[in-house]
Amino acid sequence: MIRQQQYAIVPNIRTPLPGPNATQLIHMDEQYLSPSYTRVYPLVVKRGKGAAIEDVDGNIFLDFTAGIAVCSTGHCHPCVVSAIQRQAAELIHMSGTDFYYAPQRDLAVKLAHIAPGKSPKKVFFSNSGAEAVEAAFKLARYHTKRSHMISFFGGFHGRTMGALSLTGSKVIQRRGFSPLVPNVIHLPYGHQDGISIETHLTNLFRRTVSPDDVAGIIVEPIQGEGGYIVPPAEFLFQIKETCEKHGILLIADEVQSGMGRTGKMFAIEHWGIEPDIICLAKGVASGMPLGAIVAKADVMDWPRGSHASTFGGNPIACAAALETIRLLEEELMVNAADVGTHLIDELFKLKSRHRMISDVRGIGLMVGMELRDPKTGEPTSKEREDLIQRCFQHGLLLLGCGESTVRFCPPLVITREDVKTAVNIVSSMLTEMEAELEPELHSSVNG
Ligand SMILES: Cc1ncc(COP(=O)(O)O)c(C=O)c1O
Repeated sequence: MIRQQQYAIVPNIRTPLPGPNATQLIHMDEQYLSPSYTRVYPLVVKRGKGAAIEDVDGNIFLDFTAGIAVCSTGHCHPCVVSAIQRQAAELIHMSGTDFYYAPQRDLAVKLAHIAPGKSPKKVFFSNSGAEAVEAAFKLARYHTKRSHMISFFGGFHGRTMGALSLTGSKVIQRRGFSPLVPNVIHLPYGHQDGISIETHLTNLFRRTVSPDDVAGIIVEPIQGEGGYIVPPAEFLFQIKETCEKHGILLIADEVQSGMGRTGKMFAIEHWGIEPDIICLAKGVASGMPLGAIVAKADVMDWPRGSHASTFGGNPIACAAALETIRLLEEELMVNAADVGTHLIDELFKLKSRHRMISDVRGIGLMVGMELRDPKTGEPTSKEREDLIQRCFQHGLLLLGCGESTVRFCPPLVITREDVKTAVNIVSSMLTEMEAELEPELHSSVNG
């Protein structure tokens, strides 16, 4: 059963947005919370069920964000809630760093078995994506005894110092925080500059860095924050080949693309590649804070005391993750593949009707729709933001990524009916915007 609980009508907007309760909360939030948070629109959430979000004024939204690709099994899936409640009644914390407990062991066994490739695996637990990336960075240096890392423009790996050094997404994320961790080199992602990654790496190794100084190459199999970009097939194969040739570790950052979102447990499985280290977080525990790296057992060779985390692999988060994986394997990965293909088809149909859409791309329920200015044909972040705001006002929750892309990363419980609702809202908002931007063209098309 894909959907557990549902509101009768989704979306259902009853007040102007933000409503009175939301307005009051936002006012205090602005006084007391860090101004660094991005905050896209004034949504103040009260509760969530499946793919529906209810705000503090009783408005119901259809959620195509899943809390930034996190609530993989939908909001408050009853099986996940029960697993959390059972575990909370038994043991909340004892620190997996110093002591043993079954949920952490059980989840490590499960992750080691579902990770791609035949090599035996070991798992390290963290609380977030950035911490998983930190762990991968440190392990790569430790294992290889090399200092350099290669990552990609557009790549997002988190905001702690090490992860931020690997991030190459938006300059606001790095500006003012230097010096970052040295010896990180960014290269273009996915042949976007028309030059193969093989050529870039060959140039790099010939002119500036010896490959035997490179510990790891960290790559998102599908770039997330950078714009939901699916690289051409040879990109990841060429990276894998280079890594094997020079003893460099291949680190797949699957924090966003992993845990069933693309219709396979890990996006890199679409290319049949076994990485040396996989970074996980977001979808792994349906919203409980949990990150992990899964590494080849012979790579995870750091000694006792060299790396640890007080809260990482907390029993409740592990119990939620075990239940999440069970649900993904039972039906949600298949649903992500099926409904994701349907969503992409529907967005392509939309593209044929709306000149503002320049591209539709993605795999499973990791889908991007890029916008352009209908007059200049240039990518447009302004119209992208406008579309997202209008959709919010009509009860559809979306986020942006990259410069001009709308991202669709709903919970994996969404149905074809939800896709129809979402695509209809996007379509009517685009029609409205196009009519405002190009009144002459619109009246002649409609006349
Ligand atoms: C691919 C990727 N890696 C790492 C991170 C960082 O995760 P967190 O925000 O949990 O630190 C993100 C977050 O968006 C991500 O998309």
